[in-house]
Amino acid sequence: MIKFLLNEVESQLSPEDPHGSVLDYLRETLQKKGSKEGCASGDCGACTVVIGETVDGGMQYRAINACITPMATLHGKQLITVEHLKQGDTLHPVQQAMVECHGSQCGFCTPGFIMSMFAYRKSHAHPDREAICEALGGNLCRCTGYRPIIDAAAQMFESPLEDQFTSAEEKTLSALQAIAGGGDGAELALNNGEKSYFSPTSVSNLAYLLQQHPEAKLVAGGTDLCLEFTQFLREFNTLIYTGRVVEMLRVEETGSAIEIGGAVSFSDCAEALVRHYPDLEELLARLGSLQIRNQATMAGNVANASPIADMPPVLIALDAQLLLRCGEETRLLPVRDYYKGYKETAQAVSEFIERIIIPKPKAGYDFRVYKISKRLEDDISATCGAFYIKIEGGVVSDARVAFGGMAAIPARAGNCEQALIGQAWNEQTIEIAMTALAEDFQPISDFRASAEYRLSVSQNLLKRFYLELESTADQLRVTHYA
Ligand SMILES: Cc1cc2nc3c(=O)[nH]c(=O)nc-3n(C[C@H](O)[C@H](O)[C@H](O)COP(=O)(O)OP(=O)(O)OC[C@H]3O[C@@H](n4cnc5c(N)ncnc54)[C@H](O)[C@@H]3O)c2cc1C
Ligand code: FES
Ligand code: FES
Repeated sequence: MIKFLLNEVESQLSPEDPHGSVLDYLRETLQKKGSKEGCASGDCGACTVVIGETVDGGMQYRAINACITPMATLHGKQLITVEHLKQGDTLHPVQQAMVECHGSQCGFCTPGFIMSMFAYRKSHAHPDREAICEALGGNLCRCTGYRPIIDAAAQMFESPLEDQFTSAEEKTLSALQAIAGGGDGAELALNNGEKSYFSPTSVSNLAYLLQQHPEAKLVAGGTDLCLEFTQFLREFNTLIYTGRVVEMLRVEETGSAIEIGGAVSFSDCAEALVRHYPDLEELLARLGSLQIRNQATMAGNVANASPIADMPPVLIALDAQLLLRCGEETRLLPVRDYYKGYKETAQAVSEFIERIIIPKPKAGYDFRVYKISKRLEDDISATCGAFYIKIEGGVVSDARVAFGGMAAIPARAGNCEQALIGQAWNEQTIEIAMTALAEDFQPISDFRASAEYRLSVSQNLLKRFYLELESTADQLRVTHYA
């Protein structure tokens, strides 16, 4: 039985389909039609709802895409829907600001925008235009134009934050804590005779379940996996959710590494990563939308084995390792050895990523990553290049260069690296290394970019890296488009 709060009402659900989405539950089961289905792939934001969770003894509210979130993953959480914002005849301050700023025309996108704005209002004390744009980057509107909507998001701060959720916070917290702590509420298992769903809360139980059900598919944020359901109409018999496995929800630091648990979302690990690698800030802000980053995990990004995923080239350049677990056995595997072929990995049956271990920056090294995509926000890379290089006394003493989008797997550019190591750090060396890069990859042409473009832009990224290091000119850090 899934136990959750639907707005402020304690609810229990034995869903007909244990893998069904939050959006289907709202629109089909409850006939709540406020949340819309635009794309069913996490791109448009029309289905945005807000999830309330207990964090450090308080409530945290985040926007997510209901179309690609399995309903069962809401066990122990609060689901806030657009229908619940208005109290009697009084609009919520977010809705009132949208009306006053003329932020809606046909209205299809409006509930999704309202929910993203609501989550932003609940987690920020003051408006910041850039942060508002980032918070709304996963919501598309085809009629109004974004200025009135952004104005509304700023104006909503003129009303006090207190609303029905603030007044009910104590009650909400104790209801959610009761589900988390309560007997059968802790672990969750659903079965409708054909499909099963498990939600373990410890890494040993996860490992045990995967051994009992070697055919099972893990689901973390679901932002890759759930597209299999909505876009390709695939079905799996068994899903095992990682999002409540306590040990895998931690970000820990040792003297030499940042360790990201296998169920940690990008929203939850961004701060630690950017603190050590400031150049990751832009990449992480451009990985999907805020709704996606609130759900998507780094482990899912790695395990999905897409050649155009953003993190693998970064992790390969930084020489990160995966802690893989199967039952009680664990092994460390460098990310560069994880990929075997297109969407093929070295992960064995019943094995999973427990943790990702990223070395902290070493003295004397420079790190940069560049994502090339057609749109700035919420777009997948045509190519993504990561560079980690040490220069001593004007000579390159070490170089790790990795690319995504250039081959069937994310990989290091061995010829390019060899052309750099031991050479003087100058334009001539860079030109030679750019030529060598052509021997590393034979990229394909697809709707994101042609093979020629991919190669030429990747060579130019190496040059850009050189120029950035040579000048302190931050003005060079403009965004490039494919
Ligand atoms: C609209 C949209 C925009 C996107 N934009 C980007 C982008 O800009 N850049 C980018 O790189 N990606 C992007 N993605 C892809 C996706 O969000 C990421 O790859 C994300 O990190 C996947 O993580 P997840 O937790 O959602 O994985 P899930 O979908 O839950 O799982 C993905 C795969 O990993 C497996 N898996 C999950 N956890 C583990 C584990 N611990 N051990 C072993 N296997 C595991 C699952 O079984 C599944 O096969 C986008 C997706 C959408 C829908
Ligand atoms: S329907 Fe478009 S993001 Fe969910
Ligand atoms: S108001 Fe019509 S899509 Fe936004």
